[in-house]
Amino acid sequence: MLTASQLRQKYLSFCEKNGHVVIPSSPLVPENDPTTLFTGSGMQPMITYLLGAKHPKGTRISDSQKCFRSQDIEEVGDNRHTTFFEMLGNWSLGDYFKKEQLNWYFNFLTKELGLDPEKLFVTVYQGNEELGIPQDNEAIELWQAIFAEHGIEAKVINKADQVGAQDGRIFTYGDKNWWSRAGAPKNMPIGEPGGPDSEVFYDFGSELKLHENSIWKNEVCHVNCDCGRYMEIGNSVFMQYQKTNNGFEPLPQKNIDFGGGLERTLAAVMQDPDVFNTDLFLPMITLLENISGKSYKTDPTSFRVIADHMRAAVMLIADGVFPGNKDQGYYVRRLIRRSVRYGKKLGINHEFLTDLVPSVIEVYQDAYPVVKTKQNEITNVLAQEEKKFLRTLEKGLREFEKNLEQTKVLTAEQAFNLYETYGFPLELSLEEAKTQGLSLAEQIETAFQRIKKEHADKSRTASVGKFKGGLQDHSEITVKYHTATHLLHAALRQILGKEVSQKGSNITVERLRFDFSYPQALTVDQLKQIEDQINKWIELDLPMHKQVMQKEAALKAGALAFFVEKYPDEVNVYTVGTNPTNDWISKELCGGPHVTHTAEIGHIELFKEQAVAAGVRRIYARLTI
Ligand code: ALA
Repeated sequence: MLTASQLRQKYLSFCEKNGHVVIPSSPLVPENDPTTLFTGSGMQPMITYLLGAKHPKGTRISDSQKCFRSQDIEEVGDNRHTTFFEMLGNWSLGDYFKKEQLNWYFNFLTKELGLDPEKLFVTVYQGNEELGIPQDNEAIELWQAIFAEHGIEAKVINKADQVGAQDGRIFTYGDKNWWSRAGAPKNMPIGEPGGPDSEVFYDFGSELKLHENSIWKNEVCHVNCDCGRYMEIGNSVFMQYQKTNNGFEPLPQKNIDFGGGLERTLAAVMQDPDVFNTDLFLPMITLLENISGKSYKTDPTSFRVIADHMRAAVMLIADGVFPGNKDQGYYVRRLIRRSVRYGKKLGINHEFLTDLVPSVIEVYQDAYPVVKTKQNEITNVLAQEEKKFLRTLEKGLREFEKNLEQTKVLTAEQAFNLYETYGFPLELSLEEAKTQGLSLAEQIETAFQRIKKEHADKSRTASVGKFKGGLQDHSEITVKYHTATHLLHAALRQILGKEVSQKGSNITVERLRFDFSYPQALTVDQLKQIEDQINKWIELDLPMHKQVMQKEAALKAGALAFFVEKYPDEVNVYTVGTNPTNDWISKELCGGPHVTHTAEIGHIELFKEQAVAAGVRRIYARLTI
């Protein structure tokens, strides 16, 4: 039986054999990227290289990237959706293109993993006349040749969502087969790269009757149907366009961005469409069975929600995200609260979350050692948050009783309010109403789902707005803030002493934030000196140099590094100064991007200084005109 670790290793070795350099996963929270809260795909940390910057490791890169997709929280519960997952990735940065990629991937699936070619189905881009982008006939021809080698005649079907899969092998779709960080071409901001893609699906077969037993049973089944019979296991993006003011223009280099789901690929190898039946989840499911005294089969949804959410929470806390009310912290809090609630559905009425932690650590400690080193911290954070939520739940219950004492009817609005404020799932409210002899408003479930959807649509619109704002109008500003952050770091060390080291950094279009070690509050005078120093360096219009160096040599030359162990052996070093070897004021290991001369920054003002933890201070600064 193939384990997840073996599969990860097999894939990375396969890529290595094909000339790729394997790099470590980036953290789940992107650094200095205000456009998104989490790393949601393998390509996000690669974006500058896809746009043409030179990667220190060359033109063929591969990794297994930790990803978190917060938008999938509500989808969890079926056989394949998870919020955290690992994306197996390989990139061509202006190197190989479609032919190599499609052949390699097909060989990996069929020869290395032994998947039956008959069970593989593919999709390609049908083109968009308005945008002047043609149907991807090249991919169609390549796939036909690949299938022909296995004696399979690959028929092309258009509009499968209307006519069904028929006996097709290659299916064309519109926006579904276009990939960019912002989704469909029309959602892409100016400057964003994207391109047509080709997805591979594994067919778990008609015998399981997944379609017949799904809510889609009255519609035609096709590869993109949500019934679960076909599972997307990998996607090759032909990243060759960039949106510009004049429409879609070719990027200077043609790239490949491939991403494959580790969990889903493993499910295909096991020929079992339930990703929770893999060795990534089974230890936790078994533990939960023991704790609840119930079996997985009796309530798979609750088991899956808890298993997914606890794994995600552990990985996020390990990467430094703590439960809170906004940004990333909000999602960790939601994951924990939902786990507690679904625990209640399983009849667990005591604290149980920390008991599950070792089952996650065991599975991931080899691939991501940070989970092991942070085990105590993770356990403490979970214990505290669970306690706090249990108290909130009790309060919610009392509120529930008080509010409904008079009316004796539970309405959809009340139920949604309880859901939003106290995290009560609808089922919990319905059960509670039953216990207390309340009646239910008519159609309460439908009305509840409608309100919930309206709410979700609203917040989704808000987050799309955030994405657009981030890239379209402001990328230049964030680059300035990024360089200003390096100058601030250098100024702090010059004025407060070399013991100052970076503890964190965050940039939005409005300001930069920088955390650093220092034992006490800064005086007004110190703050003034630091600000003046930065502005002096800006006025001197010092050049920014970028060098590719061996990590050890860079550190020896005095370069600062935030997480030493995270960087590959060969690194990008950014140096501010008239000469990068002997006359510089700032040198850091960093992915960029940066301004080319400091005067581009304009002027900086420090506007807030505060404590964030024992021995850690935080400074906010903004650009002024
Ligand atoms: N970036 C592509 C995806 O996430 C591979 O599907």
